[in-house]
Amino acid sequence: MTIRITGTGSALPEKIVTNFDLQELVETSDEWIRERTGIAQRRISMGETVATLSAAACQRALEMAGKTAEEVELILVATCSPEMLLPCCACQVQDIIGASHAAAFDLNAACSGFLFALNTAYAYMQSGIYKNALIVGSEVLSKLVDWSDRGTCVLFGDGAGAAFVEASAEDIVRDNGRKVGMECMVQGSDGTKGMVLSCAERPVDNAFISEKQTISPYIQMNGQEVYKFATRQVPACIHQALDKAGITAEDVDMFVLHQANVRIIESVAKRLKADISKFPMNLDKIGNMSSATIPVLLDELNRGGRIQDGNRLVLSGFGAGLTYGATVIVW
Ligand code: ACO
Repeated sequence: MTIRITGTGSALPEKIVTNFDLQELVETSDEWIRERTGIAQRRISMGETVATLSAAACQRALEMAGKTAEEVELILVATCSPEMLLPCCACQVQDIIGASHAAAFDLNAACSGFLFALNTAYAYMQSGIYKNALIVGSEVLSKLVDWSDRGTCVLFGDGAGAAFVEASAEDIVRDNGRKVGMECMVQGSDGTKGMVLSCAERPVDNAFISEKQTISPYIQMNGQEVYKFATRQVPACIHQALDKAGITAEDVDMFVLHQANVRIIESVAKRLKADISKFPMNLDKIGNMSSATIPVLLDELNRGGRIQDGNRLVLSGFGAGLTYGATVIVW
């Protein structure tokens, strides 16, 4: 059996906000942001929603895969910033694109969300329940960010990426002898460190509670703890995935990592003893879009012809929860 990505798509808001624009809002500088994060600009929604961005990315992924929306069996949207609690974003996407035969639901694993969704689809397909799925990572984080907090507002952006995943009965083998498809996945969570990166929803409130709780509705982050977690856990998790696949970092052509911070990516490359040229990055142009960063980068690489048939990719992400994961794929 082969389970592989046959189409990718992405959608970004048109509005570009540069580091210089942020200098007008908070006490920061282009130099500080670039040096500490590698980010120069990000896209910010002027009304685009998690659902509309998701739907646009899905339509592009379907077009590339040569499929119609009616053929889709499952839609999984990974997001931590939906506009609606009910209905879920995946059902909104189903409605917009007309995927009338699909089952649809959301999943929240923050920045690891796209990987967790991909792994969920993989498990469904391996067990024969579904033959295909649209997997989406989509965020409008700009509404969760406190625009007076320089520690977080410089990091995040808005956007969506999607992949169409298909299962087929036969094995597909490339000229280099590699068997196409998802080779293995690793995922994990550490809830004990959940409050290192958090964002509250509504507190418990009802007719029987007289004392009202006040909460901040914005992202709260201990940046240094997140940094330590990422630089330790991501290489460990990738090593685990490589061991599971029976390969080493040398057998990998490209590491498509969650785009949070260039220093984190450089540190992971160093720990894996892999050349940094194997770690494509686009966070300078679009910042950290949580669950959307991996599929948006994947789409950029795919459409730009930078992924060749037979290439082996490691996708790896980490984020709030805390959560982490890695997936090995032969293209
Ligand atoms: N501009 C200027 N100064 C700033 C800014 C800013 N935007 N933000 C913080 N500072 C200041 C701080 O106030 C502090 O000043 P002080 O020394 O006077 O107190 C100083 O810079 C150093 O602050 P630190 O927090 O120690 O800076 P650090 O070197 O750790 O860099 C950063 C901060 C970039 C957030 C870093 O910790 C990091 O990258 N962490 C990982 C965060 C991350 O990737 N989060 C998202 C991942 S999970 C997800 O994607 C949802």
